[in-house]
Amino acid sequence: MYLIGSDIGTSGTKTVLFDLQGNTVASALCEYPLYQPKNGWAEQDPRDWWNAVCESIKAVVTKSGVDPKDIKGVGLSGQMHGLVMLDKNDEVIRPSIIWCDQRTAKECEEMTDIIGADKLIEITANPAMTGFTASKIMWVKNNEPENFEKCAKIMLPKDYIRYMLTGEFATEVSDASGMQLLDVPARDWSPYVLDKLGIDRAKLGKVYESCEETGRVTKRAAELTGLCEGTIVAGGAGDQAAGAVGNGIVREGIISATIGTSGVVFAHTDKLSIDPKGRVHTLCHAVPGCWHIMGVTQGAGLSFKWMRDNFFENEKSTAALLGNDPNYIMDKIAEQVPAGANGLVYLPYLMGERTPHLDPDCRGVFFGLSAMHTKKDMLRAVMEGVIFSLTNCMDIIKDMTGTTPETVYASGGGGNSTLWRTMMADSFAMPISRNNSKEGGALGVAILAGVAAGLYKSVPDACAELIREKDSTPFNEANAEIYKKYYTLYNKLYSDLKDSFKML
Ligand code: XUL
Repeated sequence: MYLIGSDIGTSGTKTVLFDLQGNTVASALCEYPLYQPKNGWAEQDPRDWWNAVCESIKAVVTKSGVDPKDIKGVGLSGQMHGLVMLDKNDEVIRPSIIWCDQRTAKECEEMTDIIGADKLIEITANPAMTGFTASKIMWVKNNEPENFEKCAKIMLPKDYIRYMLTGEFATEVSDASGMQLLDVPARDWSPYVLDKLGIDRAKLGKVYESCEETGRVTKRAAELTGLCEGTIVAGGAGDQAAGAVGNGIVREGIISATIGTSGVVFAHTDKLSIDPKGRVHTLCHAVPGCWHIMGVTQGAGLSFKWMRDNFFENEKSTAALLGNDPNYIMDKIAEQVPAGANGLVYLPYLMGERTPHLDPDCRGVFFGLSAMHTKKDMLRAVMEGVIFSLTNCMDIIKDMTGTTPETVYASGGGGNSTLWRTMMADSFAMPISRNNSKEGGALGVAILAGVAAGLYKSVPDACAELIREKDSTPFNEANAEIYKKYYTLYNKLYSDLKDSFKML
């Protein structure tokens, strides 16, 4: 028997077919574009996601040669917060405004005025966020009233895929928490917030727990994907909760630090815990009855990719020619520069920042450039800046939980980088572990699908069975001292530049 996990990310959709022991049997990645029509805007076409899901599921079914009848469930993980709007004929109305889009500062103020800052935190567990879906809906209402009028269904990226796969209009608690329309303590839509914002509940799907069955693959979707009609589709989860399940972050004390396009430090909580200052998010976890807190830095892997694609084209081509992973080559280049990047500091605010500043207007900075620096120093500074930003997240989580975590698992694409794990260990001043799960998010939602299909007893049981520590990177005292000093400067730079960002 097998399970499928499909992760609808920002740069592409990755679909993985697993056996019940969590081993990867086949995987496929289909990429798609990100549109940035204005500074701070970010959009994608939901139809690109659907094509990528169909193509990647078909690819893993074909490659693996397994009988589709033996695939017992599909789990969906997705980039969170994106706004998908469908009209009454189920046509996509406008491109999706996705998670990292920062156009909605005005709408956040409006929401805070209408609902009240304290009430908003009490119900949605977070202050008004430019990244979250509600302010994006308000932006469409204010700027494209004709599109708002036409809208019959509002959904998140992976829930659009669920709708296409099963015909069921539904979501689940972890991703729905990131819309800022959910009563996070009650794990259901908030009639109060919906009423205040003028959003009709009928335009939102039914809310499930993440490991419940939400629907079954239709005949048409079966033809397009190669799956059997009737295959179970589980709730799934937002990409962070999905990655957390896939990394075994299903009990207190174990934390993950993920470097994907965004960077996230994620902690499971048995009880609801909210940061009154709103620096980290509190959302429902994909484990029934539990929550999580997470700090999010907007431009983690994004900063690295920006650097690679704009300054390391030759190295990328050479790596491709040699059949090497370009990211491995980039690691080797950055390793040649000592900790501290020869006095160069990078702020990773390419798309504004959430933790700890919650500021849509800040932007990336190289500080301390000298004629002696080369692009190698700049690369090292970018990687270190991302780690400092994750250290901000970790500090707040330690502050909220009042403890140092037992174990921190590095994950995401960046978690595969030895250099990035070493920097993380040195900056967090603690060892950083990796586990045997290579496919964080996809495995996480395959586990949720396995619970929905009755193949595992519970999410924590499945994690205990499938996920084990693989290795650990120690920290180096001397580098930890160096990073402590640069981290102080890094934090000061934001305060010094805060007003200048607004002028910009
Ligand atoms: C989490 C978040 C990101 C996106 C894209 O709040 O915005 O994880 O889902 O990865």
